Amino acid sequence: MSEEFLLLNPGPVPLSDRVRRAMDEPMVSHRSAAFEATYERAQDGLEYVFTRSTLDERATGEGTALVLNGTATMGMEMAVANLADGDSEVVALVNGKFGRRFERIADRHARVTPVEVEWGESFDLDAVADAITDGTAVVTMVHNETSTGLLNPVAEVGALARERDALFVVDGVTSIGGDEFRIDDWGVDVAITDAQKALAAPPGVSAVFVTERAAARADGESAPFYEDMEWHLRKAKQHQTPFTSAVPLFRALAEAVEEIEAEGMPARIDRHRRQARAFRAGFDALGLEPFPNAAGPTERSNTVTATALPEGVRGDDAAAFFDAVRERNVSLSGGQAHLGGEIFRVSNMGGLTPEQVLRGVRTVGEALNDAGVAADVEAGVAAAEGALD
Ligand SMILES: Cc1ncc(COP(=O)(O)O)c(C=O)c1O
Repeated sequence: MSEEFLLLNPGPVPLSDRVRRAMDEPMVSHRSAAFEATYERAQDGLEYVFTRSTLDERATGEGTALVLNGTATMGMEMAVANLADGDSEVVALVNGKFGRRFERIADRHARVTPVEVEWGESFDLDAVADAITDGTAVVTMVHNETSTGLLNPVAEVGALARERDALFVVDGVTSIGGDEFRIDDWGVDVAITDAQKALAAPPGVSAVFVTERAAARADGESAPFYEDMEWHLRKAKQHQTPFTSAVPLFRALAEAVEEIEAEGMPARIDRHRRQARAFRAGFDALGLEPFPNAAGPTERSNTVTATALPEGVRGDDAAAFFDAVRERNVSLSGGQAHLGGEIFRVSNMGGLTPEQVLRGVRTVGEALNDAGVAADVEAGVAAAEGALD
């Protein structure tokens, strides 16, 4: 194992040196001016990422960016629990593990109506339109379904939610910071993301973007004490959190979003799209089949590539493939829940270099060969290289 460790899991993703070093500063109080300055930097950078993730950097929304001391699941719960109560109806769209998580959260706090298709399949927009009624308070949806590598049609569902005056809560955990995301154009009221995904910051904190429309309807009294959105919004005006902040993680997040702003979202989106195309082209040329079944307005992800494991390394035989990947000092992910042994997933979120993407393709090809599945490694790498140009 001579080559450096390469982390290709769909989060956490590799950190830049600047982001890592930011965690190694002397401690300060979370009520100090120094910390407030850090939080403000993080908020400014997050506001840039949430509202200017367009191909021309045009702003697409106004609101407040909150940082939470917890991963994005906390943000998902904050959104649902503050915008719905036991009497409200939440329509939850499910076509993968994280859509399911939203449904389970909604089930704890409200009456939930799921709109569900098989994991990896596209939604039927007519079924979604039928499910959202004038009685629906909130619609939840995952933009980039990390468990299946599908990019779901947020714009279309946002329009349906707006027609019925329901609030639209979107999990953009593996799209925001890596792909296009349009708050106003898509009718998004609350957007959620995690630090350790396309923002390329360390795990442990998450970010929630709250529009005026959502803030006006939030009721913190009905939410868990730690997730009272109104309280978080009040404190955010002073660049503080209601409770003790995870100071080193906020510092790292502030650096990470400033790095994104320096690259610029248009260039970053373009780079992520090229790298995802390279993974797709490389795996195709190795003879592999994509896993998700993208159709209609649903597309394959530009940040997470999910691929079906071929005959010979599927089910109980998958271990030989994953062992051979590990032997090459590379980390990638298998499938979650019932997709274990059926698929593998790689991420291109963050700041991967072209060489790292090509190493990912080469590693998969060589690991297949080691596990007894014939794959033309050089053809895979050449196809990926072509797509990177
Ligand atoms: C789409 C999506 N939503 C939400 C999450 C939140 O997970 P966690 O709270 O464990 O970071 C993840 C993490 O993988 C995700 O990929």
